[in-house]
Amino acid sequence: MDELYLGIETSCDDTSCAIYSPDRGVIVNRTAAQLDHERYGGVVPEIASRSHVKTLLPLYELVMKEAETRLEDLAGIGVTNGPGLTGSLLVGLSFAKALSYGSGVPLVGIHHLEGHILANALNVGFETPAIVLVVSGGHTQLIFTECIGRYRFLGGTRDDAAGEAFDKIGKLLGLPFPGGPALEREARGGRRDAFDFPRGLRRSQECDFSFSGLKTAVRLKVESLGALSPEVVRDVSASAQEAIVDSLVEKSLLAVRMLAPPHGGAESHGCAPARFYIAGGVAANGRLREVMTERLSPEGVTVRWPRTEYCTDNAAMIACAAFHHISSGRRDGLELNTFPRGDLVSWAS
Ligand SMILES: Nc1ncnc2c1ncn2[C@@H]1O[C@H](COP(=O)(O)OP(=O)(O)OP(=O)(O)O)[C@@H](O)[C@H]1O
Ligand SMILES: [Mg+2]
Repeated sequence: MDELYLGIETSCDDTSCAIYSPDRGVIVNRTAAQLDHERYGGVVPEIASRSHVKTLLPLYELVMKEAETRLEDLAGIGVTNGPGLTGSLLVGLSFAKALSYGSGVPLVGIHHLEGHILANALNVGFETPAIVLVVSGGHTQLIFTECIGRYRFLGGTRDDAAGEAFDKIGKLLGLPFPGGPALEREARGGRRDAFDFPRGLRRSQECDFSFSGLKTAVRLKVESLGALSPEVVRDVSASAQEAIVDSLVEKSLLAVRMLAPPHGGAESHGCAPARFYIAGGVAANGRLREVMTERLSPEGVTVRWPRTEYCTDNAAMIACAAFHHISSGRRDGLELNTFPRGDLVSWAS
């Protein structure tokens, strides 16, 4: 019989429920974005958790109806229990525990970043070993994935995440929140070489990133320009996006070369990863996809990313992760708690 897994995601400001089948893929994925935060230019934790309380039950009922299934027929439930906003995470976790306790359906807590990585398994067929660049609102990390559940940290941001840089620069330019998609739209009509913005840690031989210098450089430039014409907004957007993309691609290239034989051959089990995946909200960026493919293809590396709807937060990726954990025998009980911070490598080991 077709096994169905329920995913629940409430780690930040999106409430999401999904049903995933290992045989048929995503059956239904519904996400309710919270628009109340827009006027504050960022997520307000108290508003986020109250909104999850209101939205989660009707959303769950909707996906169960659309998937034409019943709680007691599910093979498992996966819920994001960290990292994220504690109040938001608690709403999803309490709800998932109640469903599991009342029905006996197995429950597992899922690390949000593993969810983002496994968004790639929803449509493209996730093959390992691989290098994954997780680029989201709160994280920017290069992770060597030996197989699902075995991760090694290669490098990460020392300050802002790439998505956060997009959002902050978008705010400086007066663009709507979140800044990433808005900045990408503006950038399409701008000149990428209009301004020479800095690329953080450019000369470092480590796979680390830094975006705070870029943010400051853009702020100083914007202040010096005075009133911003639509043309200047487009030029700053295109030049800033290019700086972010360039940093992400250069460090990804470094990671690929570091793991290639003879250096990384043994560590990557004699198999240099010819696969590279992008994950997280910034993976939706068309310029990042384009430049990453252009620069990594000559190294013999195939670059893939999730469908755009599965780049930002969604519960389908959590349901998919639940399938992998539950089918390998993992179960969590009512003692399961949330964790606001915590890296994927320690969580998985
Ligand atoms: N087309 C795009 N170009 C650039 N950035 C984008 C694009 N679409 C979304 N983003 C960015 O992606 C981020 C949201 O992604 P995501 O939902 O994965 O982050 P998060 O869940 O808030 O953070 P995390 O996953 O690290 O906890 C935002 O910073 C947003 O600006
Ligand atoms: Mg996320």
